[in-house]
Amino acid sequence: MIETELNSKELIALEDQHGAHNYHPLPVVLSKGEGVYVWDVEGKKYYDFLSAYSAVNQGHCHPRIIQALTAQASELTLTSRAFYNDMLGKYEKYITEYFAYDKVLPINTGVEAVETAIKVCRKWAYEKKGLESNTATIIFAKGNFHGRTLGVISASTDPTATKNFGPYLPGIEVIPYNDLDALELALQKPDVAGFLVEPIQGEAGVYVPDDDYLAGAARLCKEHNALFIADEVQTGIARTGRLLATCGNCTCTGHCENRPEVRPDILILGKALSGGVFPVSAVLADDEIMDCIKPGEHGSTFGGNPLACAVAMAALEVVKDEELQVNAYRLGVKFRERMQKLVESHDLVNLVRGKGLLNAIVINDDEDSDTAWNICVALAKNGLLAKPTHGNIIRFAPPLVMTEDQLMECCDIIEKTLSEFE
Ligand SMILES: Cc1ncc(COP(=O)(O)O)c(C=O)c1O
Repeated sequence: MIETELNSKELIALEDQHGAHNYHPLPVVLSKGEGVYVWDVEGKKYYDFLSAYSAVNQGHCHPRIIQALTAQASELTLTSRAFYNDMLGKYEKYITEYFAYDKVLPINTGVEAVETAIKVCRKWAYEKKGLESNTATIIFAKGNFHGRTLGVISASTDPTATKNFGPYLPGIEVIPYNDLDALELALQKPDVAGFLVEPIQGEAGVYVPDDDYLAGAARLCKEHNALFIADEVQTGIARTGRLLATCGNCTCTGHCENRPEVRPDILILGKALSGGVFPVSAVLADDEIMDCIKPGEHGSTFGGNPLACAVAMAALEVVKDEELQVNAYRLGVKFRERMQKLVESHDLVNLVRGKGLLNAIVINDDEDSDTAWNICVALAKNGLLAKPTHGNIIRFAPPLVMTEDQLMECCDIIEKTLSEFE
């Protein structure tokens, strides 16, 4: 029997009883979204200040993306890659031109794309770099978050992600984040295939590395014939005020003709690639690297399905036409200005950091306190949804279609809520 007409309390109870307890959501049950807003089942309206962890950059239910979804859904949704379909080639041409790479490997979730990148990197290391079979090491950064599969958690330094899930994948070395000396040292060891890194560590609490870190890491990788792999699942697609966070401080607003100085050998995208409509992810690289993968060696039933192709093209068109990276950059500056005033006037907030519209505030309390959680519950009561990344860090990542007036209203809500805690 499918239940109908239940209230929030009843719906939460259903999840609690019948669903695995692998998440701890805020007690809000959403049933509708439009642009920067979501509504709960009782009809209360909220600003979405998380955007499904940066998947809904284009805003909830963007009409152009939904139009692409519904039009394609009534034509053809899935063929598997046993056959060609009339959307995949068009999408592959579109996305590789958009991000200026030779080839794309289409897949579904972010973590699958990361796994794909690891496999592509290993294959390249054995077949092009000449490493001896089964010896390759990939370097990761401490505090990373690349998803939840066994392969990927093997590189995690978060005990919650790893405890009692061993044994783990070998061939991984973890070094401190934002530390080029540590990277240089690690790259000197034999058998290094690549360095896989988030341009900004989102899940860890929005850690922005030094300005020269990404360019330095890419240069060191090149010098040591290792691949520089950027996990832009969360930071990519306009979130940080550039089309990609690896665009660093180049002066373009994205879509630049001459690629910026930091060009990952392998680029990993997900989340906003579909505007949050459903899972679409991608791994991009040039022929020298991507052609190491041959038929049968990697894939997924749903990867590159026609529905995903139509949705992803529409989602990327929206980013380009609405210049979302420009809005993210502009509003990001204003947001941090407002939050900086809070830092100066409230004892409860220690600092604000971030780029574009990927930001976090650090609360003046222990990492294992529940203060950030309690603040998020209060923010929800006041009409704004955000989620702690740790006991004392709150990530703020609204849809990039937000207007300045809306952002200022959100800052007012945050300010008012924090003053309730003093
Ligand atoms: C940087 C990064 N990589 C990978 C992932 C995993 O993506 P997914 O949850 O779609 O598997 C995430 C998810 O938050 C992420 O932030």
